[in-house]
Amino acid sequence: MYKRQPQLAVRGADVLVPRLARAERTAEADDTAPAWSRGTVLVTGATGALGGILARHLVTQHGARHLLLLSRRGIDAPGASELRDELTELGADVTVTAVDVVDRAALAEVITAIPADRPLSAVVHTAGVLEDGVLAQMTPEQLETVLRPKVDAAWNLHELTRDLDLEAFVLYSSVAGLLGTAGQSNYAAGNTFLDALAEHRRAQGLPGVSLAWGLWADTSSIAGHLAEADLRRLARAGLLPLNAKEAMELFDAAPGTGEAVLAVTRPCGAAASRCPCCAAWSAPRPSAPPLPRAPGPRPARRSPSGWPPCPRWSGAGR
Ligand SMILES: NC(=O)c1ccc[n+]([C@@H]2O[C@H](COP(=O)([O-])OP(=O)(O)OC[C@H]3O[C@@H](n4cnc5c(N)ncnc54)[C@H](OP(=O)(O)O)[C@@H]3O)[C@@H](O)[C@H]2O)c1
Repeated sequence: MYKRQPQLAVRGADVLVPRLARAERTAEADDTAPAWSRGTVLVTGATGALGGILARHLVTQHGARHLLLLSRRGIDAPGASELRDELTELGADVTVTAVDVVDRAALAEVITAIPADRPLSAVVHTAGVLEDGVLAQMTPEQLETVLRPKVDAAWNLHELTRDLDLEAFVLYSSVAGLLGTAGQSNYAAGNTFLDALAEHRRAQGLPGVSLAWGLWADTSSIAGHLAEADLRRLARAGLLPLNAKEAMELFDAAPGTGEAVLAVTRPCGAAASRCPCCAAWSAPRPSAPPLPRAPGPRPARRSPSGWPPCPRWSGAGR
């Protein structure tokens, strides 16, 4: 059975393999849902596909009233003025600012300028870019392009806000860092940093959660370039697209798990009838939507049904 595992860890007499496990809602964490309506919520990459969906969700579902939306192009980004007008119409006070969040000094200036009567209360870092390529041909420029808005920007946000009273610090990561996806070694590394940062912040008693999203159905410059063959390959890896409604339900469910790192994706439910492991993943739950989390290594074992571990999840390394 071990021959099929790309990663093993031997700890004493135990042979461990990494696995995703379904996250459970915990009563204590349930009480810690962020109050998005308090103060100013800063969203990086807010003019992107997922940032815009989140901004609308925070205003319509959580009563967020003060939004600071950041991207390099700011109001000149496609759809940015429409987003601002729509959110304003809904009663929110919206500032769209052009800033490169990799630039620490520029970001510090933006954060310092937040009015004292609506202090910064939450950060959601969605900014990110792709520059795919096979590992052997990955250039330093490709690495830098992808790592800087993930690693440098997240660290800037962490350091510039660590002394503030934040309700939430959410990082938009990707399952690429947990599972590995073809041609995305730079992207995987950047997202793994986000996952580690969330753990690091938790260890320091700070809020932090890294949401390692699977594929979203909504097109964006991140996902929009995928060809049919790419989508089929992702589906074979168990990554079926989430629609915005499902994704925002999972976003809301995340704090209730108490976990710092969550793989937020839809397991391969379409194959459920053929695969007992996946059937277990897609079984309906009475209290919470499915929210796979990324645990530490688990002992290798056969699935309850007696089938070998599902190959779709066998690459969940951290
Ligand atoms: N879409 C998916 O299926 C998917 C799946 C897994 C994870 N994710 C993650 O979700 C996040 C959002 O993805 P998306 O699909 O919404 O991407 P997107 O539509 O391409 O939006 C990315 C946003 O980030 C901004 N941005 C990029 N670099 C920046 C920088 N240095 N400073 C400030 N803003 C910057 C872009 O605006 P400017 O160009 O104007 O700066 C844009 O607003 C990404 O971090 C991605 O890794 C997405």
